[in-house]
Amino acid sequence: MIAIRSATVADAPRCAEIYAPFVTDSWVSFELEFPGTEEMADRIAKALQSHAWLVAELDGVVMGYACGSEHRTRGAYRTSCDVAVYVDARQKRQGIGRSLYEALLPSLKDRDLHAAFAGIALPNDASIALHRAMGFDPVGIYRQVGWKMGDWRDVAWFQRLL
Ligand SMILES: CC(C)(COP(=O)(O)OP(=O)(O)OC[C@H]1O[C@@H](n2cnc3c(N)ncnc32)[C@H](O)[C@@H]1OP(=O)(O)O)[C@@H](O)C(=O)NCCC(=O)NCCS
Repeated sequence: MIAIRSATVADAPRCAEIYAPFVTDSWVSFELEFPGTEEMADRIAKALQSHAWLVAELDGVVMGYACGSEHRTRGAYRTSCDVAVYVDARQKRQGIGRSLYEALLPSLKDRDLHAAFAGIALPNDASIALHRAMGFDPVGIYRQVGWKMGDWRDVAWFQRLL
């Protein structure tokens, strides 16, 4: 059974473990170096204050997480946020991503956020399908906006009003 709860900094090692392969072995994350557990703990603490950071447990073990973060810094953007979701590579397509978003999006709305944005490095059919299934609409594609693993990378942006 999938259980969703708010994260604590104690979840940092497990969240880092889930996130690491998306940094080191793919362009899903545009980070070039794995941030480490301490930095993950800082990110969780910051997200809990400003937005939300949720984890999904399967039989008591954290198998995925989703979080909100600032979209842009300038003041008028304060009602918008970015969202991200990562599921353990061995636990895909069991409803974990959907369960996380079903909890995350209302919790962001409760914080008076109005619009959620997701930047998806292409190709990523699973992420596009999840975001579409959760009511996100395509906004457009930033072409060659990043360079990772020896090639230019495009990012498709999706948005949903909360
Ligand atoms: C994208 C990701 C978060 C999806 O999580 P998940 O737990 O596997 O997704 P779910 O099982 O909750 O799927 C929910 C819906 O999304 C869609 N979906 C998810 N994965 C899909 C896939 N591989 N192919 C087609 N549709 C998919 C389906 O509509 C699915 O509903 P259904 O199973 O009832 O048909 C997961 O694949 C992942 O962690 N990928 C790597 C990290 C990543 O890309 N994160 C997003 C960064 S923008």
